[in-house]
Amino acid sequence: MKVRVARKRMVAQEVCLFDLTSLDGSDLQPFTAGAHIDVMPAPGITRQYSLCNSPGQRRTYQIAVLKTKDSRGGSSAMHLQVQEGDTLEIAGPRNLFELRPAKKTLLIAGGIGITPIMSMAEHLSAAGCDFELHYCGRSKESMAFRDRLALAPYDHRVHFYTDDGGDGATLDLLRLLSAHEAEDRLYVCGPSGLIGWVMDTAHQAGWHKDNVHREFFGATPALKNANAAFVVRIRSTGQDIPVVAHQTITQALAAAGVAVETSCEQGVCGTCLTRVEAGLPDHRDSYLTTEEKQSNRVMTPCCSRSFSPLLVLEL
Ligand code: FES
Repeated sequence: MKVRVARKRMVAQEVCLFDLTSLDGSDLQPFTAGAHIDVMPAPGITRQYSLCNSPGQRRTYQIAVLKTKDSRGGSSAMHLQVQEGDTLEIAGPRNLFELRPAKKTLLIAGGIGITPIMSMAEHLSAAGCDFELHYCGRSKESMAFRDRLALAPYDHRVHFYTDDGGDGATLDLLRLLSAHEAEDRLYVCGPSGLIGWVMDTAHQAGWHKDNVHREFFGATPALKNANAAFVVRIRSTGQDIPVVAHQTITQALAAAGVAVETSCEQGVCGTCLTRVEAGLPDHRDSYLTTEEKQSNRVMTPCCSRSFSPLLVLEL
């Protein structure tokens, strides 16, 4: 669908906020807290951005984009090329980070990982639910939405932490996560280091893994394993498809006429998740948990490869 860039402004260091509206001013497709849209800021580039406004707002999709140093073209196109009044192509919304009923919801955000968490906070506040939001960043200046959160009707539920000590508070994660009940849920979004810390500490504090939900805002760097060639076998047809060193599995499959739905193509969203019948996957994604990776029953063929010469996929 095409949308209009109604407003574009900087809301923190290197973070630009975009208001997107329909071309004729009518309501957009509804979304739920935690949802994202696919945005095509330039030909051949598709990026996923979480919606950060309240799901109750039907006229606008708000996305906040961090300009990354190692941008593969997406964030720099959004910052430098896309202007107010432009038309943008988008798809979605889709939600892979959905809120579920809880007695109390704990939200933890790191850096630009605040984007889906903002939408969740707005929803939980509007629904009268019990929640807390803990927001970590490098410095006050780097943290988007601080002003909005400070003025929100739920400001007493929000806690800020900065690496440079600007907020004078330190996140005592073990203490925070130790005080929980069985029906509570925990959502974390941010860089892989923060997510790993939260997941490990939640495990240590006795959280059930089904009550802990996470979403990465960027891919972790792929392992530096050499990209060896291997063969993928399609279980349903027995077709063998070679994957050469410079190809991903999904690229090799597409070239052979086997379509696998993808979205992020960075191992972040889980759209391409595929069951593994045999072989040893070389997991390079940030989506699967350590446990899921160790089981080797599923993999993300958009970025992961194979340690074994043959990989049989349930396709
Ligand atoms: S397409 Fe997103 S994880 Fe593969």
